[in-house]
Amino acid sequence: MENQELLQRSLRAVWHPCTQMKSHESAPLVPISHGQGVWLYDMDGKRYLDAVSSWWVNLFGHNQPQIKQAICEQMDALEHVILAGFTHEPVVRLSERLAALTGLGHCFYASDGASATEIALKMSFHYWRNSGKPGKTRFLSLQNGYHGETLGALSVTDVAIFKDTYAPLLLQSEQMPSPDWRLAAEGESAEQYASRCGDALEQHIAAHHEQIAAFILEPLVQCAAGMAMYSSLYLQRARDICSRYQVHLIADEIAVGFGRTGTMFACEQAAIRPDFMCLSKGITGGYLPLSVTLCTEEIYQAFYDDSAVRGFLHSHSYTGNPLACAAALATLDIFERDGVLESNLRKSAYMKQQLEQALAGLPVMHARQQGMIAAFDVISVRQDFQRDFYQAALARGLLLRPIGNTVYLMPPYVISDSEIDWMCGEIAQLLQERLT
Ligand SMILES: Cc1ncc(COP(=O)(O)O)c(C=O)c1O
Repeated sequence: MENQELLQRSLRAVWHPCTQMKSHESAPLVPISHGQGVWLYDMDGKRYLDAVSSWWVNLFGHNQPQIKQAICEQMDALEHVILAGFTHEPVVRLSERLAALTGLGHCFYASDGASATEIALKMSFHYWRNSGKPGKTRFLSLQNGYHGETLGALSVTDVAIFKDTYAPLLLQSEQMPSPDWRLAAEGESAEQYASRCGDALEQHIAAHHEQIAAFILEPLVQCAAGMAMYSSLYLQRARDICSRYQVHLIADEIAVGFGRTGTMFACEQAAIRPDFMCLSKGITGGYLPLSVTLCTEEIYQAFYDDSAVRGFLHSHSYTGNPLACAAALATLDIFERDGVLESNLRKSAYMKQQLEQALAGLPVMHARQQGMIAAFDVISVRQDFQRDFYQAALARGLLLRPIGNTVYLMPPYVISDSEIDWMCGEIAQLLQERLT
C-alpha cells in the first residue's frame, strides 16, 4: 500500500489519540510500515529517528530480536489465560523479579499506565477504609503532574488542556507546588526551592491528613509537564511527611522507570521506598501493553480477609497477559545481560555534551538532563512553535514532539554516538532555520 492511500483510510477509520482530528487537514499523518533500531520507516522508504521512543515506551529499539523471540516462544505455549483463579509461569517470574527490584510486591497488573494509576488510587482509598479510616477520600498530586487520562487518573493530573473539559466528572484532589527547578526564585538553588515546596506540602498535609488517602507524584521528572526536573531532596521530604501523617506515597514511575533517569527506578536516587509504585511503558521494551501496581506488605495484609468485599475486586480482561509478561522478562534480561544502566551513563553524558555544543549561541534556556532524558526551552514568541518545529523536524527525518516551548530528547537506549551526533546537528540547524 502507498503512503497516500493509507493516510486517507486512516483518517476515515481511526480516531487518533490526543489529536484534534481536523488538524490533519493541514498536517498529514505519518504512515509507518516498519521499524529497525531507532528508526521508523514509511511506505515510501523515508525514515525517521524515533527521538521520543514512540511515546516513551521503547527502550532497546524497534525489531529487537530477544524480545521478539521471547514473545514468539511464549505464543507457542500460551497466549492468554484468565488470571482470576488461574496463574502461569511468566506472570509469577515477572512478579518475583519486579519485587526484588523495587522492594515492594504483590504485583497487580493491567494494560495501560492510566489503569495502574487507577489501581493505586482505589487500593489506597480501600486500604484506609479497611483500616477504619473511611474519611480518607482525597488525593494530592503536584502542579503540572500527569498520571493518565481515565477519570481517576485525570483527577490527579494537572494539565489544563486535558483536564478542564471533564472537571465536573472528576474526583476531589488538590495540587501542591511543583518542585520543578525552573520555578525557583532568582538566586534560589534547586535544592532550596525543593525544600520550600516540601514546606508547602507539609503545611497542607498537616492540616488535612485526616481526609487525604495518598499523595501521587512522578519521581524526579514530570515528563508531560515538559520534562520538568527536580531535586531528589523533594522525594525524601515527601516520603518523610507522608510517613509521619499516615498518607500513602504513590510513585508513578510509568514514564521514568526502567532506567530512564539513570537508575532502574527514579526513587532509588532519593533512597526512598514508596507505598505504591506504578510501572508501564518501558516494562515490555515497548512491545506490548502492560502495567503493574506494586505495594507494601502492610497494604496487602489489610485486604487479606475472609470477607470478599475487603478484598480488591478490581479486574481487567488482559490482566497479566503471558505474552506481555514474556516481553517484560526479556526486557529485564537485556538490562542484566548488557549492563544497560552502566552503558547509559556514558551515553547520557555524550548526549549532554553533544547537545550543549549544538545549542551554543542559540536562543534557548534551561538546558537540563536526567539520565536518558534531555530537554531545553526555546525562547520564542511564535504561537505555533510546537506545531511548526514538530513538522519541520519530521521533514528532516526526526521525530520530536515539543511540549509547548520545550524540546526534549528521549531516544531508545540503543541510539549510537553517530545517531546522537546527527540528531543534535539536525536540532541545531532546525533552531537556526526556525528561530534566527
Ligand atoms: C507519568 C505518567 N503516568 C501515567 C501515564 C499514562 O499512561 P498510559 O498512556 O499508558 O495510560 C503516562 C503517560 O504518558 C505518564 O507519563
